[in-house]
Amino acid sequence: MKAEIGVLGMGVMGRSLSRNLARNGFVVSIYNRHVDRVEENVARDFKSAHPELKEAMAYDDLAEFVQSLATPRKILLMVNAGPTVDAVMNDLSAHLDENDILIDAGNSHYQDTVRRIKTLKDKNLHFIGSGVSGGEKGALLGPSIMPSGDHQAYQQVSQYLETIAAKDNNNQPCCAYIGEQGSGHFVKMIHNGIEYAEMQLLAECYSILKAQKESNESIANIFEQWMEDQGSYLLQISVDILRKKEGDAYLLDLILDKAANKGTGKWATSTIADSGEPATMIPAALFARYLSFFKEQRTKAEGLFSGPTKYQSISSDQLKEAYQFARIINHHQGFSLIKNVSDQNAWQVNLSEVARIWTAGCIIKSDLMKEISATLEKEDNLLFNEPWRSQLGATHSATQHVVMKCMENQLPIPCLTAALNYFHGIKIGDGSANLIQAQRDYFGAHTYKKKNDSSEKSYHTVWEG
Ligand code: 6PG
Repeated sequence: MKAEIGVLGMGVMGRSLSRNLARNGFVVSIYNRHVDRVEENVARDFKSAHPELKEAMAYDDLAEFVQSLATPRKILLMVNAGPTVDAVMNDLSAHLDENDILIDAGNSHYQDTVRRIKTLKDKNLHFIGSGVSGGEKGALLGPSIMPSGDHQAYQQVSQYLETIAAKDNNNQPCCAYIGEQGSGHFVKMIHNGIEYAEMQLLAECYSILKAQKESNESIANIFEQWMEDQGSYLLQISVDILRKKEGDAYLLDLILDKAANKGTGKWATSTIADSGEPATMIPAALFARYLSFFKEQRTKAEGLFSGPTKYQSISSDQLKEAYQFARIINHHQGFSLIKNVSDQNAWQVNLSEVARIWTAGCIIKSDLMKEISATLEKEDNLLFNEPWRSQLGATHSATQHVVMKCMENQLPIPCLTAALNYFHGIKIGDGSANLIQAQRDYFGAHTYKKKNDSSEKSYHTVWEG
């Protein structure tokens, strides 16, 4: 008997996805490489440890693994993003036959996916680049899946991906074909960017409440109240984290305040810069993580400069409104960015579908996402449409208040500030960029256009003299 689908790589995500596939009744082959004394019998041991893998076939020999699969073969690559994917593709291609399908479900860069699709197409093989979100638990119980590439190839693997995916409120799979090329990995990258900003916003709210001497337990209680109408996975795990103890201490208080990253936020930020989209919150969240790494400098500077003279308190209700305001801006920026890059690449990404498959299974699932999905069915822009327009109007003043108080309190809140500045910038019809244009023309003869000039002519002025 041949297996229906193979999973290559028994890391955290590969293990969880193979169990998910097997639990859903698919016959799976699993493979992990053999490295003397380091990775030995990994796939076999894993199979023995999990009853749901009773029917699965386990290998550490690549040729045997490939031969165990029914053709056209479907292989989920669950290896580290980057050169490992190319190396594995290379090793595999010697054993594959025409029309076999590789599915890269790691956090690969979408432009690498574009390149890999082309490389395999030249060999009459298919490559599906698929974003997968939900962490270890999501992968096991139902992740959100964002596949892209050749549509016909996708149709051959859709039943596997859609069956193992999380289900939305209407019991529809949180897996949808995103579009051609690397659009699936692109969308996953922006998912992670939104995730960075959502996490940073919560860290900022935590820092504000902590500065006014709220205990971890009371911050957890405040966040728990917010869950009533701002429910999200990230808010819920923050409540759990705030309450977690190690011995007598709160574990959170023992964790070093240096935030690491694996690169998707960095990619999202450089894509933002390339796209021309003013999505300011993702870079703000990334740079907040970078700043956190300057622990020594921060500690030294703390002793060199004076702190606030008097602490201005912020009510948790006002903070909640600011949090709500910034989350709307964050999602608005994220979806506008997807639209912009999708248009540039003619991917025709369905924004509402993307929001829908992010309502369950993934890290940024939230009540807000469900409402956003409904809006995006009709409109592309959240700012101009209800209920977001009214909600931004209603929470704007509290956000201003929170940001002003934080400035007086010398509390860094880069994401809340970025949200507010974006809002102020996007709703000012007559801005200050005329001065920038004049300066550019002054020192570089870069020319400028004039207001109300239907000819759209470029002007240059000799500014000196
Ligand atoms: C997800 C997560 C997942 C992973 C990120 C974390 O959607 O399941 O985003 O992809 O946890 O790699 O990224 P950082 O290490 O950059 O925070």
